[in-house]
Amino acid sequence: MRVTVSRKAHFNAAHRLYRKDWSDAKNDEVFGLCNNPNFHGHNYELIVSVTGEIDPQTGYVMDMKDLKDLIKIEVEDAFDHKNLNLDVPEFEDLNPTAENIVVVIFNKLRARIHADMDLEITLYETPRNFVSYSG
Ligand code: NI
Repeated sequence: MRVTVSRKAHFNAAHRLYRKDWSDAKNDEVFGLCNNPNFHGHNYELIVSVTGEIDPQTGYVMDMKDLKDLIKIEVEDAFDHKNLNLDVPEFEDLNPTAENIVVVIFNKLRARIHADMDLEITLYETPRNFVSYSG
């Protein structure tokens, strides 16, 4: 039996959407207010879902304490109260859209979760706008 277990997490972060290789006019045209040079913030919410077999010994798919600790180290400690463009190396040359953020989070967690398990990340940039990635 494969079962999905999920944990919610949260971080606050600032970002600016722009491409260094585009003119200011083109960045304004494409990214609008999200291209504000002084940055703006979001209250990001995420759902991390791990799907795998129930371990007959423990009855767990994964110890939720382990999942909580992984999310803290790889996501919260790395992104919370940070400026994604300036403070987070993954976004030095990668536009920190919700789409790119969810892929970065997926890749960080994927490397730390057993290969037998499936992983899906859903990232809310606002209560109404959210993206998902499962590899
Ligand atoms: Ni934004």
